[in-house]
Amino acid sequence: MNVLIIGSGGREHVLCRKIKQSPLLTKLYALPGSAAISEIADCSNVAADDFEGIFSFCKNEKIDVVIVGPEAPLAAGLQDFLSDKGIKVFGPSAAGAKLESSKEYAKEFMKKNEIPTADFKVFTDCAKAKEEIKNMKHPLVIKADGLCAGKGVRICFEEKESFQAVSDFMDKKIFGDSGSRIIAEEFLIGKEASIMAFVDGNDFLMLPVSRDHKRLSDNNEGPNTGGMGAVCPVNLDDDTIAIIKKQVLDRFIEGLKKENISYRGIIYVGLMFTKSGPKVLEFNVRFGDPEAQAVLPLIDGDLLEIIIAAIDGKIAGKKLSIKKGVCVSIVLSSGGYPANPEKGKEIKGLENFADSEEIMIFHSGTRKDSGKWLTNGGRVLNIAAVAPNIEEARKKVYFAISNMSFDGMHYRKDIGL
Ligand code: AMP
Ligand code: GLY
Repeated sequence: MNVLIIGSGGREHVLCRKIKQSPLLTKLYALPGSAAISEIADCSNVAADDFEGIFSFCKNEKIDVVIVGPEAPLAAGLQDFLSDKGIKVFGPSAAGAKLESSKEYAKEFMKKNEIPTADFKVFTDCAKAKEEIKNMKHPLVIKADGLCAGKGVRICFEEKESFQAVSDFMDKKIFGDSGSRIIAEEFLIGKEASIMAFVDGNDFLMLPVSRDHKRLSDNNEGPNTGGMGAVCPVNLDDDTIAIIKKQVLDRFIEGLKKENISYRGIIYVGLMFTKSGPKVLEFNVRFGDPEAQAVLPLIDGDLLEIIIAAIDGKIAGKKLSIKKGVCVSIVLSSGGYPANPEKGKEIKGLENFADSEEIMIFHSGTRKDSGKWLTNGGRVLNIAAVAPNIEEARKKVYFAISNMSFDGMHYRKDIGL
């Protein structure tokens, strides 16, 4: 079977590595892919938003299955477009992707389907928002409604900060139209975890639970980022898993059915364990990044087989074979990230681990020039290792990182502590 992966980051790199192991695979392609991905898949410079270009590519290369990595093409309707033309796509329809592309829609969906989440209010007018926020309890969480690459959430400890967030999102439009509607949300306290599950429209199959580290610096300080590292598994007791399945995933599937939403892909649930039980912070409609780089290396079985089962509506009864042990994956980011990441810095030391069985390197934002690897984005690399326990996994990863460098390189030292 010929498989096409859409995207170019670290998540797509680990997806390619995993799909490459499948006995069902004939040939692997990626659009647009990256220099690193081109080492294992045929890449071509077709952008993720060029739907006609993707369709022509699928016809020419006889693609059987398209796996969509990022959310933007899903929100723009890539699944609808390709499946109308008879191509199998792993990833939800635009209606399903709205659960990520509109936080307001996601919150209303949760409310309607009794999925536990923080109390909230939606605003479409800046002055009205400020007026009402005066009467709201702080800390308060202000969120832009639309897609903001993981940067549209502000935790505001006092009114002044809430006003600033409202002005930035609604007046200054720092995220364009994504901030024309905002959500003011109750501040929750608790540990977080990332729940991902395959969904076939009727059933789900949970992946091992993981944890992302969203703040830039150690001790959860600094600005929110797309994610600075992840660990998997996060061990939850059976009762907690049962509550998550019953109160979140079952109700999610029921909600899809009630609203007639076509959804064959991954649902990602950002969860917080509060004193009054688990509550959903957000839905994403694809694999988390960097969670995928910590979760997928632990899958022992055939990922492609499960993906096909999800697309065909046959996930019921499927089982995922998971390796024993722990995976730690740490992001190396550029100087200036997340505000103004520097680019074009030479990355040294990758060759030391090129053939390593122990250290996995997934490229998020790199390019290759005259045989040298250069930084090309905010999150540059994910360095990951699987080991029997978290201490050993951490040791391996940090040892590898100590042999790598580029100007301005930053990483967290407390991932998995
Ligand atoms: P989100 O993109 O909605 O997942 O938010 C990004 C991060 O902001 C989350 O991972 C949490 O750490 C934090 N966050 C979001 N919503 C809340 C909330 N209601 N209470 C406390 N922290 C939150
Ligand atoms: N790690 C969070 C996300 O993928 O949005």
